[in-house]
Amino acid sequence: MKIEQQNMSFETAKAETIVIGVQKHQAQMKNWAKFAPFFSAAVEAWLKNGEISTDVKKITVFPVTTANTHIKRVVFVGLGAGKDLTEEILRETFGLVGKQLKSLKVNEYAIWLESFVTPAIEEEDVAFLAAEGIEMGYYTIAHYKTTSNVADSYLDRVELVTEAEIEQIAMNFEVGHIYAQAVNEARTLVNLPPNLLKATDLADYAVNLAKQYDFDVEILDKAQLEELGMGGILSVNQGSAEEPRMITLKYKATEEWTDVVGLVGKGVTYDTGGYSLKPKDGMVGMKGDMGGAAAVLGAMKIIGETRPNRNVVAVIGSTDNMISGLAFKPDDVITTYSGKTVEVLNTDAEGRLVLADAVTYAKQHGANYLIDVATLTGGVITALGFDKTGALTNDEAFFESFMEATIETGEFVWRLPLTEKDKKRIRKSDMADLNNSPGRDGHMIFGGGFVGEFAEDTPWIHLDIAGTSDAQAAHDLGPKGGTGAMVRTLAAFMEHF
Ligand code: BES
Ligand code: ZN
Ligand code: ZN
Repeated sequence: MKIEQQNMSFETAKAETIVIGVQKHQAQMKNWAKFAPFFSAAVEAWLKNGEISTDVKKITVFPVTTANTHIKRVVFVGLGAGKDLTEEILRETFGLVGKQLKSLKVNEYAIWLESFVTPAIEEEDVAFLAAEGIEMGYYTIAHYKTTSNVADSYLDRVELVTEAEIEQIAMNFEVGHIYAQAVNEARTLVNLPPNLLKATDLADYAVNLAKQYDFDVEILDKAQLEELGMGGILSVNQGSAEEPRMITLKYKATEEWTDVVGLVGKGVTYDTGGYSLKPKDGMVGMKGDMGGAAAVLGAMKIIGETRPNRNVVAVIGSTDNMISGLAFKPDDVITTYSGKTVEVLNTDAEGRLVLADAVTYAKQHGANYLIDVATLTGGVITALGFDKTGALTNDEAFFESFMEATIETGEFVWRLPLTEKDKKRIRKSDMADLNNSPGRDGHMIFGGGFVGEFAEDTPWIHLDIAGTSDAQAAHDLGPKGGTGAMVRTLAAFMEHF
Protein backbone atom coordinates (compact mmCIF):
# COMPACT_ATOMS: atom_id res chain seq x y z
CA MET A 1 0.00 0.00 0.00
CA LYS A 2 1.29 3.42 -0.94
CA ILE A 3 1.33 5.87 1.96
CA GLU A 4 1.57 9.57 1.14
CA GLN A 5 1.45 12.76 3.11
CA GLN A 6 -0.97 15.57 2.56
CA ASN A 7 -0.17 18.73 4.49
CA MET A 8 -3.52 20.03 5.68
CA SER A 9 -4.67 21.23 2.32
CA PHE A 10 -7.96 19.82 1.20
CA GLU A 11 -7.72 21.45 -2.20
CA THR A 12 -4.67 19.44 -3.25
CA ALA A 13 -5.76 16.00 -2.02
CA LYS A 14 -5.72 13.45 -4.83
CA ALA A 15 -8.10 10.90 -3.41
CA GLU A 16 -11.82 11.13 -4.09
CA THR A 17 -12.76 10.12 -0.57
CA ILE A 18 -11.70 11.68 2.70
CA VAL A 19 -12.35 10.22 6.15
CA ILE A 20 -12.95 12.73 8.94
CA GLY A 21 -13.83 12.24 12.60
CA VAL A 22 -16.50 14.43 14.13
CA GLN A 23 -16.79 14.97 17.86
CA LYS A 24 -19.46 16.67 19.94
CA HIS A 25 -17.48 19.89 20.19
CA GLN A 26 -16.12 19.80 16.71
CA ALA A 27 -15.98 23.53 16.18
CA GLN A 28 -13.34 23.86 18.92
CA MET A 29 -10.99 21.60 17.03
CA LYS A 30 -7.76 23.09 15.80
CA ASN A 31 -7.77 23.41 12.01
CA TRP A 32 -11.52 22.84 11.78
CA ALA A 33 -11.63 26.38 10.42
CA LYS A 34 -9.60 25.21 7.43
CA PHE A 35 -11.99 22.42 6.63
CA ALA A 36 -15.41 23.92 7.23
CA PRO A 37 -15.30 26.64 4.57
CA PHE A 38 -13.70 24.23 2.10
CA PHE A 39 -16.54 21.77 2.55
CA SER A 40 -19.62 23.89 3.12
CA ALA A 41 -20.64 26.84 5.21
CA ALA A 42 -23.59 24.74 6.33
CA VAL A 43 -21.44 22.12 8.05
CA GLU A 44 -21.91 23.61 11.53
CA ALA A 45 -25.67 23.50 11.10
CA TRP A 46 -25.57 19.94 9.81
CA LEU A 47 -23.53 18.88 12.81
CA LYS A 48 -25.94 20.63 15.14
CA ASN A 49 -29.11 19.18 13.66
CA GLY A 50 -27.65 15.69 13.34
CA GLU A 51 -27.56 15.61 9.55
CA ILE A 52 -23.94 14.70 10.18
CA SER A 53 -24.04 12.51 13.27
CA THR A 54 -21.43 12.84 16.00
CA ASP A 55 -22.79 9.74 17.76
CA VAL A 56 -20.17 7.06 18.35
CA LYS A 57 -19.76 4.69 15.40
CA LYS A 58 -22.29 6.58 13.25
CA ILE A 59 -21.04 7.13 9.72
CA THR A 60 -22.42 9.76 7.37
CA VAL A 61 -21.31 9.95 3.74
CA PHE A 62 -21.67 13.41 2.21
CA PRO A 63 -20.88 14.52 -1.35
CA VAL A 64 -18.45 17.40 -1.86
CA THR A 65 -19.55 20.06 -4.31
CA THR A 66 -16.58 22.38 -3.90
CA ALA A 67 -14.78 23.06 -7.15
CA ASN A 68 -10.97 22.81 -7.48
CA THR A 69 -10.54 19.58 -5.54
CA HIS A 70 -10.43 15.89 -6.33
CA ILE A 71 -12.36 15.08 -3.19
CA LYS A 72 -15.84 13.96 -4.15
CA ARG A 73 -17.12 12.76 -0.81
CA VAL A 74 -16.51 12.96 2.91
CA VAL A 75 -16.97 9.96 5.16
CA PHE A 76 -17.84 11.59 8.50
CA VAL A 77 -17.22 9.33 11.46
CA GLY A 78 -19.03 10.02 14.73
CA LEU A 79 -16.79 9.87 17.81
CA GLY A 80 -19.18 11.09 20.50
CA ALA A 81 -17.67 13.30 23.16
CA GLY A 82 -14.14 12.24 22.16
CA LYS A 83 -13.01 11.99 25.80
CA ASP A 84 -14.92 8.72 26.32
CA LEU A 85 -13.34 7.08 23.31
CA THR A 86 -11.12 4.07 24.02
CA GLU A 87 -8.58 2.67 21.57
CA GLU A 88 -10.73 -0.43 21.14
CA ILE A 89 -13.85 1.57 20.31
CA LEU A 90 -11.83 3.65 17.86
CA ARG A 91 -10.40 0.47 16.26
CA GLU A 92 -13.93 -0.90 15.85
CA THR A 93 -15.13 2.41 14.49
CA PHE A 94 -12.40 2.28 11.87
CA GLY A 95 -13.55 -1.27 11.11
CA LEU A 96 -16.95 0.19 10.19
CA VAL A 97 -15.20 2.83 8.08
CA GLY A 98 -13.42 0.00 6.24
CA LYS A 99 -16.77 -1.66 5.55
CA GLN A 100 -18.12 1.66 4.26
CA LEU A 101 -15.13 2.18 1.97
CA LYS A 102 -15.54 -1.37 0.69
CA SER A 103 -19.19 -0.83 -0.13
CA LEU A 104 -18.26 2.40 -1.94
CA LYS A 105 -15.64 0.36 -3.84
CA VAL A 106 -13.01 2.87 -2.81
CA ASN A 107 -9.39 1.92 -3.60
CA GLU A 108 -7.72 5.03 -2.24
CA TYR A 109 -8.66 7.48 0.44
CA ALA A 110 -7.41 10.42 2.42
CA ILE A 111 -7.76 10.52 6.18
CA TRP A 112 -7.53 13.60 8.37
CA LEU A 113 -5.75 12.04 11.34
CA GLU A 114 -6.00 14.99 13.68
CA SER A 115 -9.80 14.89 13.55
CA PHE A 116 -9.64 11.58 15.48
CA VAL A 117 -7.31 12.80 18.21
CA THR A 118 -8.77 12.86 21.73
CA PRO A 119 -7.26 13.71 25.12
CA ALA A 120 -6.36 10.02 25.50
CA ILE A 121 -5.47 9.04 21.93
CA GLU A 122 -2.60 10.72 20.11
CA GLU A 123 -2.23 11.16 16.40
CA GLU A 124 0.44 8.42 16.23
CA ASP A 125 -2.02 5.96 17.76
CA VAL A 126 -4.77 7.13 15.44
CA ALA A 127 -2.53 6.30 12.47
CA PHE A 128 -1.97 2.75 13.73
CA LEU A 129 -5.61 2.12 14.67
CA ALA A 130 -6.91 3.57 11.39
CA ALA A 131 -4.68 1.37 9.28
CA GLU A 132 -5.51 -1.70 11.33
CA GLY A 133 -9.25 -1.14 11.68
CA ILE A 134 -9.95 0.04 8.15
CA GLU A 135 -8.02 -2.80 6.52
CA MET A 136 -9.70 -5.39 8.75
CA GLY A 137 -13.15 -3.93 8.13
CA TYR A 138 -12.52 -3.89 4.38
CA TYR A 139 -11.93 -7.66 4.31
CA THR A 140 -14.40 -9.87 2.49
CA ILE A 141 -14.52 -13.62 2.16
CA ALA A 142 -13.33 -15.05 -1.11
CA HIS A 143 -16.21 -17.08 -2.46
CA TYR A 144 -16.92 -19.36 -5.36
CA LYS A 145 -20.22 -18.05 -6.68
CA THR A 146 -20.23 -18.39 -10.45
CA THR A 147 -23.00 -15.82 -10.79
CA SER A 148 -21.19 -13.00 -9.03
CA ASN A 149 -20.00 -10.14 -11.18
CA VAL A 150 -18.57 -8.13 -8.34
CA ALA A 151 -14.86 -7.62 -8.87
CA ASP A 152 -12.94 -7.73 -5.63
CA SER A 153 -11.62 -4.32 -4.67
CA TYR A 154 -8.70 -3.54 -2.40
CA LEU A 155 -7.04 -0.52 -0.81
CA ASP A 156 -3.84 0.49 -2.50
CA ARG A 157 -3.18 4.11 -1.62
CA VAL A 158 -3.76 6.40 1.33
CA GLU A 159 -3.09 10.08 1.92
CA LEU A 160 -2.41 10.95 5.54
CA VAL A 161 -3.62 14.47 6.12
CA THR A 162 -1.47 15.73 8.96
CA GLU A 163 0.73 18.55 10.19
CA ALA A 164 2.79 16.22 12.37
CA GLU A 165 6.23 14.72 11.62
CA ILE A 166 5.32 12.26 8.93
CA GLU A 167 8.03 9.62 9.59
CA GLN A 168 6.61 8.27 12.85
CA ILE A 169 3.01 8.65 11.69
CA ALA A 170 3.64 6.83 8.42
CA MET A 171 5.55 4.08 10.19
CA ASN A 172 2.70 3.49 12.62
CA PHE A 173 0.26 3.41 9.76
CA GLU A 174 2.48 0.92 7.95
CA VAL A 175 2.68 -1.35 11.00
CA GLY A 176 -1.09 -1.19 11.51
CA HIS A 177 -1.49 -2.14 7.88
CA ILE A 178 0.88 -5.11 8.32
CA TYR A 179 -1.07 -6.29 11.37
CA ALA A 180 -4.38 -6.13 9.54
CA GLN A 181 -3.08 -7.85 6.44
CA ALA A 182 -1.77 -10.74 8.51
CA VAL A 183 -5.15 -11.00 10.26
CA ASN A 184 -6.88 -11.04 6.89
CA GLU A 185 -4.61 -13.78 5.57
CA ALA A 186 -5.32 -15.88 8.65
CA ARG A 187 -9.03 -15.29 8.07
CA THR A 188 -8.69 -16.51 4.52
CA LEU A 189 -6.97 -19.70 5.68
CA VAL A 190 -9.82 -20.34 8.12
CA ASN A 191 -12.45 -19.61 5.47
CA LEU A 192 -10.96 -21.89 2.82
CA PRO A 193 -13.05 -25.00 2.21
CA PRO A 194 -11.46 -28.18 3.55
CA ASN A 195 -11.17 -29.77 0.12
CA LEU A 196 -8.97 -26.84 -0.87
CA LEU A 197 -6.88 -26.58 2.29
CA LYS A 198 -5.24 -29.78 3.43
CA ALA A 199 -2.21 -30.33 5.63
CA THR A 200 0.02 -30.25 2.56
CA ASP A 201 -1.45 -26.88 1.53
CA LEU A 202 -0.88 -25.44 4.98
CA ALA A 203 2.72 -26.66 4.72
CA ASP A 204 3.09 -25.00 1.29
CA TYR A 205 1.79 -21.78 2.76
CA ALA A 206 4.40 -21.98 5.54
CA VAL A 207 7.18 -22.68 3.03
CA ASN A 208 6.17 -19.57 1.12
CA LEU A 209 6.23 -17.49 4.30
CA ALA A 210 9.69 -18.84 5.02
CA LYS A 211 10.91 -17.81 1.57
CA GLN A 212 9.38 -14.40 1.89
CA TYR A 213 10.78 -13.67 5.35
CA ASP A 214 13.92 -15.75 5.50
CA PHE A 215 12.72 -18.18 8.17
CA ASP A 216 14.23 -21.63 8.60
CA VAL A 217 11.59 -24.12 7.61
CA GLU A 218 11.16 -27.85 8.09
CA ILE A 219 8.21 -29.93 6.91
CA LEU A 220 7.90 -33.47 8.23
CA ASP A 221 5.84 -35.88 6.14
CA LYS A 222 4.13 -39.06 7.27
CA ALA A 223 7.14 -41.33 6.84
CA GLN A 224 9.28 -38.95 8.89
CA LEU A 225 6.63 -38.69 11.62
CA GLU A 226 6.55 -42.49 11.75
CA GLU A 227 10.31 -42.64 12.04
CA LEU A 228 10.21 -40.17 14.92
CA GLY A 229 7.33 -41.97 16.63
CA MET A 230 4.87 -39.09 16.69
CA GLY A 231 1.97 -41.28 17.71
CA GLY A 232 -0.27 -38.34 18.66
CA ILE A 233 -0.60 -36.71 15.27
CA LEU A 234 -0.29 -40.05 13.46
CA SER A 235 -3.19 -41.66 15.30
CA VAL A 236 -5.45 -38.73 14.40
CA ASN A 237 -4.31 -39.01 10.79
CA GLN A 238 -4.70 -42.80 10.69
CA GLY A 239 -8.13 -42.82 9.04
CA SER A 240 -7.27 -40.23 6.42
CA ALA A 241 -6.41 -40.55 2.75
CA GLU A 242 -4.43 -37.31 3.18
CA GLU A 243 -0.89 -37.05 4.52
CA PRO A 244 -0.24 -35.20 7.80
CA ARG A 245 2.44 -32.56 8.18
CA MET A 246 4.45 -31.25 11.11
CA ILE A 247 5.44 -27.73 10.15
CA THR A 248 8.30 -25.87 11.83
CA LEU A 249 9.35 -22.27 11.18
CA LYS A 250 12.20 -20.50 12.93
CA TYR A 251 12.71 -16.78 13.16
CA LYS A 252 16.22 -16.07 14.39
CA ALA A 253 16.59 -12.66 15.98
CA THR A 254 19.88 -13.23 17.76
CA GLU A 255 23.17 -14.97 17.03
CA GLU A 256 22.50 -17.50 19.75
CA TRP A 257 19.37 -19.61 19.84
CA THR A 258 18.34 -18.68 23.41
CA ASP A 259 15.20 -17.31 25.09
CA VAL A 260 13.10 -18.91 22.41
CA VAL A 261 9.33 -18.55 22.40
CA GLY A 262 7.50 -21.52 20.91
CA LEU A 263 4.18 -20.86 19.16
CA VAL A 264 2.27 -24.09 18.70
CA GLY A 265 -0.84 -24.28 16.53
CA LYS A 266 -3.59 -26.85 16.05
CA GLY A 267 -3.91 -27.37 12.30
CA VAL A 268 -6.79 -29.84 12.00
CA THR A 269 -8.01 -29.06 8.49
CA TYR A 270 -11.25 -30.94 9.08
CA ASP A 271 -12.64 -32.47 12.25
CA THR A 272 -15.38 -35.05 11.70
CA GLY A 273 -14.83 -36.26 15.25
CA GLY A 274 -13.56 -39.58 13.94
CA TYR A 275 -15.37 -42.67 15.28
CA SER A 276 -16.68 -40.48 18.11
CA LEU A 277 -18.44 -38.89 15.17
CA LYS A 278 -19.88 -35.42 15.43
CA PRO A 279 -23.61 -35.02 14.83
CA LYS A 280 -24.27 -33.52 11.40
CA ASP A 281 -24.98 -30.03 12.69
CA GLY A 282 -21.89 -30.02 14.86
CA MET A 283 -19.67 -30.99 11.95
CA VAL A 284 -20.50 -28.01 9.75
CA GLY A 285 -17.86 -25.36 10.29
CA MET A 286 -15.13 -27.79 11.26
CA LYS A 287 -13.06 -26.56 8.32
CA GLY A 288 -12.09 -23.90 10.84
CA ASP A 289 -10.39 -26.36 13.15
CA MET A 290 -7.05 -25.08 11.92
CA GLY A 291 -7.68 -21.63 13.40
CA GLY A 292 -4.76 -22.08 15.81
CA ALA A 293 -2.43 -22.80 12.91
CA ALA A 294 -3.77 -19.73 11.10
CA ALA A 295 -3.15 -17.60 14.19
CA VAL A 296 0.45 -18.80 14.44
CA LEU A 297 1.09 -18.30 10.71
CA GLY A 298 -0.48 -14.84 10.82
CA ALA A 299 1.69 -13.89 13.77
CA MET A 300 4.77 -15.22 11.94
CA LYS A 301 3.92 -13.03 8.97
CA ILE A 302 3.90 -9.95 11.22
CA ILE A 303 7.12 -11.12 12.88
CA GLY A 304 8.68 -11.51 9.43
CA GLU A 305 7.71 -7.95 8.59
CA THR A 306 8.49 -6.19 11.86
CA ARG A 307 11.45 -8.38 12.88
CA PRO A 308 11.21 -8.13 16.69
CA ASN A 309 14.22 -8.84 18.90
CA ARG A 310 13.00 -12.27 20.01
CA ASN A 311 13.72 -15.80 18.81
CA VAL A 312 10.60 -17.65 17.78
CA VAL A 313 9.93 -21.23 16.79
CA ALA A 314 6.51 -21.99 15.34
CA VAL A 315 5.30 -25.58 15.24
CA ILE A 316 2.05 -26.59 13.60
CA GLY A 317 0.66 -30.11 13.64
CA SER A 318 -1.65 -30.56 10.69
CA THR A 319 -3.97 -33.36 9.61
CA ASP A 320 -7.67 -33.96 9.20
CA ASN A 321 -9.63 -36.24 11.55
CA MET A 322 -11.48 -38.76 9.40
CA ILE A 323 -13.03 -42.21 9.63
CA SER A 324 -12.17 -45.31 7.61
CA GLY A 325 -11.24 -48.93 8.26
CA LEU A 326 -7.84 -47.62 9.29
CA ALA A 327 -8.93 -44.87 11.65
CA PHE A 328 -8.03 -44.83 15.33
CA LYS A 329 -10.86 -45.54 17.70
CA PRO A 330 -11.94 -45.17 21.31
CA ASP A 331 -10.10 -47.67 23.54
CA ASP A 332 -6.91 -47.41 21.49
CA VAL A 333 -3.76 -46.80 23.49
CA ILE A 334 -1.21 -44.68 21.69
CA THR A 335 2.34 -43.54 22.37
CA THR A 336 3.03 -39.86 21.83
CA TYR A 337 6.33 -38.39 20.68
CA SER A 338 7.20 -37.57 24.32
CA GLY A 339 6.95 -41.26 25.20
CA LYS A 340 3.86 -40.67 27.33
CA THR A 341 1.05 -43.12 26.53
CA VAL A 342 -2.57 -42.09 26.12
CA GLU A 343 -5.79 -44.03 26.40
CA VAL A 344 -8.10 -42.69 23.72
CA LEU A 345 -11.58 -42.36 25.16
CA ASN A 346 -12.88 -40.00 22.50
CA THR A 347 -11.50 -39.59 18.98
CA ASP A 348 -13.14 -36.15 18.83
CA ALA A 349 -10.68 -34.95 21.47
CA GLU A 350 -8.06 -35.10 18.72
CA GLY A 351 -6.57 -31.61 18.92
CA ARG A 352 -4.79 -32.30 22.18
CA LEU A 353 -3.16 -35.40 20.66
CA VAL A 354 -1.81 -33.38 17.74
CA LEU A 355 -0.69 -30.59 20.08
CA ALA A 356 1.01 -33.06 22.42
CA ASP A 357 3.52 -33.99 19.71
CA ALA A 358 3.84 -30.43 18.45
CA VAL A 359 4.59 -29.11 21.95
CA THR A 360 7.22 -31.80 22.53
CA TYR A 361 8.75 -30.98 19.17
CA ALA A 362 8.83 -27.26 19.93
CA LYS A 363 10.65 -27.96 23.18
CA GLN A 364 13.11 -30.11 21.30
CA HIS A 365 13.70 -27.17 19.00
CA GLY A 366 14.72 -25.09 21.97
CA ALA A 367 11.48 -23.40 23.06
CA ASN A 368 11.99 -21.92 26.54
CA TYR A 369 8.44 -20.57 26.59
CA LEU A 370 5.37 -22.08 25.01
CA ILE A 371 2.10 -20.67 23.78
CA ASP A 372 -0.29 -23.09 22.16
CA VAL A 373 -3.28 -21.82 20.20
CA ALA A 374 -6.16 -24.09 19.29
CA THR A 375 -9.84 -24.39 18.51
CA LEU A 376 -9.74 -27.03 21.21
CA THR A 377 -13.10 -27.35 22.94
CA GLY A 378 -16.77 -26.50 22.71
CA GLY A 379 -16.40 -26.11 26.47
CA VAL A 380 -14.73 -22.72 26.13
CA ILE A 381 -17.79 -21.45 24.25
CA THR A 382 -20.08 -22.67 27.03
CA ALA A 383 -17.87 -20.97 29.60
CA LEU A 384 -17.00 -17.68 27.90
CA GLY A 385 -19.11 -17.26 24.77
CA PHE A 386 -17.94 -16.36 21.30
CA ASP A 387 -16.08 -13.18 22.13
CA LYS A 388 -13.53 -14.34 24.68
CA THR A 389 -10.53 -16.57 24.25
CA GLY A 390 -10.02 -18.96 27.15
CA ALA A 391 -6.58 -19.40 28.66
CA LEU A 392 -4.67 -21.68 31.02
CA THR A 393 -1.14 -21.27 32.28
CA ASN A 394 1.49 -22.78 34.53
CA ASP A 395 3.39 -19.51 34.99
CA GLU A 396 1.85 -16.38 36.51
CA ALA A 397 4.53 -13.93 35.42
CA PHE A 398 4.59 -15.19 31.84
CA PHE A 399 0.81 -14.97 31.66
CA GLU A 400 0.75 -11.48 33.12
CA SER A 401 3.10 -10.15 30.49
CA PHE A 402 1.00 -11.85 27.82
CA MET A 403 -2.11 -10.11 29.16
CA GLU A 404 -0.44 -6.75 28.59
CA ALA A 405 -0.36 -7.53 24.89
CA THR A 406 -4.07 -8.38 24.90
CA ILE A 407 -4.88 -5.01 26.43
CA GLU A 408 -2.95 -3.32 23.66
CA THR A 409 -4.68 -5.26 20.90
CA GLY A 410 -8.14 -5.32 22.44
CA GLU A 411 -8.43 -9.10 22.13
CA PHE A 412 -10.26 -10.39 25.21
CA VAL A 413 -8.56 -13.31 26.96
CA TRP A 414 -9.81 -14.82 30.21
CA ARG A 415 -7.94 -17.35 32.28
CA LEU A 416 -9.55 -20.45 33.77
CA PRO A 417 -8.05 -22.45 36.62
CA LEU A 418 -6.09 -25.67 36.21
CA THR A 419 -5.95 -27.43 39.56
CA GLU A 420 -4.13 -30.50 40.84
CA LYS A 421 -7.50 -32.26 40.92
CA ASP A 422 -7.99 -31.47 37.24
CA LYS A 423 -4.53 -32.85 36.45
CA LYS A 424 -5.33 -36.00 38.41
CA ARG A 425 -8.34 -36.63 36.22
CA ILE A 426 -6.25 -36.15 33.06
CA ARG A 427 -3.77 -38.69 34.47
CA LYS A 428 -6.45 -41.19 35.45
CA SER A 429 -6.34 -44.31 33.30
CA ASP A 430 -6.03 -48.05 33.92
CA MET A 431 -4.32 -48.43 30.58
CA ALA A 432 -1.96 -45.51 30.03
CA ASP A 433 -0.26 -42.42 31.49
CA LEU A 434 -3.10 -40.13 30.43
CA ASN A 435 -6.61 -40.25 29.04
CA ASN A 436 -7.78 -37.79 26.42
CA SER A 437 -11.30 -37.19 27.71
CA PRO A 438 -11.82 -37.07 31.47
CA GLY A 439 -15.41 -35.80 31.22
CA ARG A 440 -17.69 -33.08 29.91
CA ASP A 441 -17.76 -31.00 33.10
CA GLY A 442 -15.41 -28.07 32.64
CA HIS A 443 -13.82 -29.81 29.69
CA MET A 444 -12.01 -26.74 28.36
CA ILE A 445 -9.74 -27.23 31.35
CA PHE A 446 -9.14 -30.91 30.56
CA GLY A 447 -8.39 -30.14 26.92
CA GLY A 448 -5.84 -27.46 27.69
CA GLY A 449 -4.58 -29.26 30.78
CA PHE A 450 -3.78 -32.28 28.64
CA VAL A 451 -1.54 -30.12 26.45
CA GLY A 452 0.08 -28.77 29.60
CA GLU A 453 1.20 -32.30 30.49
CA PHE A 454 3.56 -32.07 27.54
CA ALA A 455 4.76 -28.54 28.29
CA GLU A 456 5.83 -29.93 31.67
CA ASP A 457 7.94 -27.31 33.51
CA THR A 458 8.39 -24.96 30.57
CA PRO A 459 6.44 -21.71 31.12
CA TRP A 460 3.32 -22.25 29.11
CA ILE A 461 0.11 -20.52 28.05
CA HIS A 462 -2.78 -22.31 26.41
CA LEU A 463 -5.24 -20.31 24.29
CA ASP A 464 -8.53 -21.96 23.39
CA ILE A 465 -9.96 -20.00 20.45
CA ALA A 466 -12.86 -22.35 19.63
CA GLY A 467 -15.26 -19.47 20.31
CA THR A 468 -13.28 -16.56 18.90
CA SER A 469 -11.69 -17.94 15.75
CA ASP A 470 -14.82 -18.10 13.64
CA ALA A 471 -17.49 -15.41 13.95
CA GLN A 472 -21.15 -16.50 13.81
CA ALA A 473 -22.16 -13.13 12.40
CA ALA A 474 -20.57 -10.01 10.97
CA HIS A 475 -18.92 -7.74 13.54
CA ASP A 476 -17.40 -4.26 13.44
CA LEU A 477 -13.95 -5.50 12.45
CA GLY A 478 -15.01 -7.99 9.82
CA PRO A 479 -17.54 -10.33 8.30
CA LYS A 480 -18.93 -13.64 9.50
CA GLY A 481 -16.32 -16.39 9.33
CA GLY A 482 -12.64 -16.47 10.23
CA THR A 483 -11.61 -13.64 12.56
CA GLY A 484 -7.84 -14.04 12.72
CA ALA A 485 -8.15 -14.23 16.52
CA MET A 486 -4.83 -13.97 18.39
CA VAL A 487 -2.76 -13.07 15.32
CA ARG A 488 -2.28 -9.49 16.52
CA THR A 489 -1.86 -10.38 20.18
CA LEU A 490 0.80 -13.03 19.55
CA ALA A 491 2.74 -10.62 17.37
CA ALA A 492 2.37 -7.70 19.79
CA PHE A 493 3.54 -9.96 22.59
CA MET A 494 6.72 -10.82 20.69
CA GLU A 495 7.49 -7.15 20.30
CA HIS A 496 7.22 -6.38 24.00
CA PHE A 497 8.04 -9.56 25.93
N1 BES B 1 -12.61 -29.00 17.19
C1 BES B 1 -13.37 -29.34 18.32
C2 BES B 1 -13.71 -28.14 19.21
C3 BES B 1 -14.58 -27.08 18.61
C4 BES B 1 -15.92 -27.03 18.93
C5 BES B 1 -14.06 -26.09 17.81
C6 BES B 1 -16.73 -26.03 18.40
C7 BES B 1 -14.85 -25.11 17.28
C8 BES B 1 -16.17 -25.06 17.58
C9 BES B 1 -12.62 -30.36 19.19
O1 BES B 1 -11.76 -31.20 18.51
C10 BES B 1 -13.66 -31.19 19.85
O2 BES B 1 -14.37 -31.86 19.16
N2 BES B 1 -13.74 -31.11 21.18
C11 BES B 1 -14.67 -31.84 21.92
C12 BES B 1 -13.93 -32.44 23.08
C13 BES B 1 -14.70 -33.49 23.82
C14 BES B 1 -14.88 -34.69 22.95
C15 BES B 1 -13.95 -33.86 25.06
C16 BES B 1 -15.74 -30.88 22.44
O3 BES B 1 -15.41 -29.74 22.76
O4 BES B 1 -16.90 -31.25 22.47
ZN1 ZN C 1 -12.69 -32.93 17.77
ZN1 ZN D 1 -10.97 -30.45 16.72
